[in-house]
Amino acid sequence: MTENDFLPGNYQKLPVKGKVAWKAPSNIALVKYWGKRPVQMPANPSISFTLDTCATTTSVAFEKKDNNTGFSFDLFFEGKPKDDFKPKIQTFLERIEKYLPFLKEYYFTIETSNSFPHSSGIASSASGMAALSLCLMDIEKQLDPALDEASFYAKASHLARLGSGSACRSIKGSLVQWGKHKNIPNSSDVYGIEYPFEVNKVFRTYCDTILLVHKGQKQVSSTMGHQLMHGHPYAENRFQQAFDNLDKLKPILASGDLEEFIKLVESEALTLHAMMMTSMPYFILMKPDTLEIINKIWEYRETTKTPVCFTLDAGANVHLLYPDAEKERVRDFIKNTLAKHCENGQYIHDHVGKGAVKIKG
Ligand code: DP6
Repeated sequence: MTENDFLPGNYQKLPVKGKVAWKAPSNIALVKYWGKRPVQMPANPSISFTLDTCATTTSVAFEKKDNNTGFSFDLFFEGKPKDDFKPKIQTFLERIEKYLPFLKEYYFTIETSNSFPHSSGIASSASGMAALSLCLMDIEKQLDPALDEASFYAKASHLARLGSGSACRSIKGSLVQWGKHKNIPNSSDVYGIEYPFEVNKVFRTYCDTILLVHKGQKQVSSTMGHQLMHGHPYAENRFQQAFDNLDKLKPILASGDLEEFIKLVESEALTLHAMMMTSMPYFILMKPDTLEIINKIWEYRETTKTPVCFTLDAGANVHLLYPDAEKERVRDFIKNTLAKHCENGQYIHDHVGKGAVKIKG
């Protein structure tokens, strides 16, 4: 499918008003998306675990207006008006209008809230853009009831990508791949797909504890971060490495080879940060506690032979990944050894989930 496949069909009569709501999860990349070209096309393919506990719930009430001159919406975050999010939503609506031409016909009230603590430093753009895209698709489905389920989800992922790249991986579960790859059938730069190959059952219930090392504003936004890959001295090698890592993951995911899984995932995380350290301008997004945690994970893994590993996003927080069967021991380790490196001792236990769900009105 290409972007043109997501242009709308013939709409039936537009409803006067209504309300829809969806809950979409966050996701954590194993092979990272870092670098893009316009508009929101990834420089390399990526793959992520869909999470469960960390999620955004969004409702969209819509009411027909008597003009269609511009977008009109109000935005509430956790019950309060949130005008500083409005420009991002405005840009999003402009980008997706061609795919959802009814948008200017309505006045929308968008209400959104996160399951994770406010300002935890966890990016909510993936879950937020995924939830909003699903709500808008739900409205489209009312205008075009013939839309089948596969097209509904593929188009929702495509719209979410136009809001935030990684959001296209927050629609379905439990492993989502995004970005054209010659060895992955149906892979696409414009939307995420459920990983089409065998996945060992150990990965279907994998755990991710997010260690909140630093909850402040990020030093570098991801949008700016992606730009740093333009003209980056190592860009081409890095993009090729991501393609290769997706090939390498195939037998690892099928067999459940945790030793190889750990090597690949940790190398991806450190490569992401190496890219930021070697760009111009350059950044170090890890904090001293990020490194303390990494060293303690390595020491714990060496001494106990427990298959735990870490991954990182473009920030200081650490995602600790481990099989469900190791949950009790690892959670003791977190409580006794790692929690002291988290801001206010805070962390969030999450696990691989099944994707977004519609909230019944
Ligand atoms: C480091 O999806 O937040 O988390 O497309 O500019 O919104 P935009 O970027 P975003 O980038 C995420 C980067 C990452 C790696 C990943 O999730 O693959």
